[in-house]
Amino acid sequence: MPDTLTITRPDDWHLHFRDGAMLAETVPATARVFRRAIVMPNLTPPVTTVARAGEYRQRILAAVPAGVEFEPLMVLYLTDQTPVEEIARAAASPFVHAFKLYPAGATTNSDSGVTNPARILHLYEAMEKYDVPLLVHGEVTEPEIDIFDRERVFIDRYLNDIRERFPALRIVFEHVTTGEAVDFVREAGQLTAATVTPQHLLMNRNDLLVGGVRPHNYCLPVLKRRTHQQAIQKAVLEGHPAFFLGTDSAPHARDQKEAACGCAGCYSARAALPLYASFLDRFGALDKLQGFASEFGAAFYRLPANPDTITLLRQPWQVPQRLSAAGEELVPFMAGEQLPWALAV
Ligand code: DOR
Ligand code: ZN
Repeated sequence: MPDTLTITRPDDWHLHFRDGAMLAETVPATARVFRRAIVMPNLTPPVTTVARAGEYRQRILAAVPAGVEFEPLMVLYLTDQTPVEEIARAAASPFVHAFKLYPAGATTNSDSGVTNPARILHLYEAMEKYDVPLLVHGEVTEPEIDIFDRERVFIDRYLNDIRERFPALRIVFEHVTTGEAVDFVREAGQLTAATVTPQHLLMNRNDLLVGGVRPHNYCLPVLKRRTHQQAIQKAVLEGHPAFFLGTDSAPHARDQKEAACGCAGCYSARAALPLYASFLDRFGALDKLQGFASEFGAAFYRLPANPDTITLLRQPWQVPQRLSAAGEELVPFMAGEQLPWALAV
């Protein structure tokens, strides 16, 4: 068994940097591993315009450590009021790479999101015309729909229709959590892809609820039953090119997670690549890391592969128990766990 693994430097196709003082933690943690990242726009206020994305991008670049090459790929947040002209402006911008659909109320800072995804067809039409990808948080928010069914119902109510009406639109089904989402992506053709998070690959709802509530494993869409986890694992293990790395790394202060009404999100920036590698190694599929982490996403976004490499070592590494950032304590995803693979940096 090889003890080192060198792959093309990967990209993270879905993450949350936040803003302000938090950037001093999140940006270096990601930029030391990943060359590019799709930066989620759910700030308060959300990043709804090219102008705001440009300012946010500058704040991110200012936090990149000296000597590190990193490019933030900016995303605009769709609202009921997004003017169709913003799609053209985004398409003309060198640094905006996609729009994100958050159904209003689906997750952290989604209050300004879209109240009815079926009512913004004119925006999907413009994205199709200008060839700007649509990134989807695929969950309905109707209170009567069970939280474990929200992704499946989103496909039935909205996504099938969007996929059919706009056949040339590139769609990323973000952080897939169900067998239904995996099947949708498998069957939807080459212009549909999915990001896969470490938590949805490595865990199921037992990891959230057995033996007590585990707030640090709480994310949205919520972890599902084991059979759904296995459907995600299968797509990654077979090296299906529509499924690629997107950590959804999303820091929340420890007291906001360990609370009566705890926040959703797992902070995985530092550990993500060793976690994915350890998973693939467990199934004898380390050869699938290169495609999943470094090729499929870039191909989908029509960006070149990165010119440099990163090396992992088969060497025990313990995920830190705690980090401190922006004057707060953070408990990273899988805190304290011993992993068989480490970054050689
Ligand atoms: O768990 C999550 N956290 N899911 C999301 O969709 C948003 C994210 C966040 O921003 O904290
Ligand atoms: Zn996210």
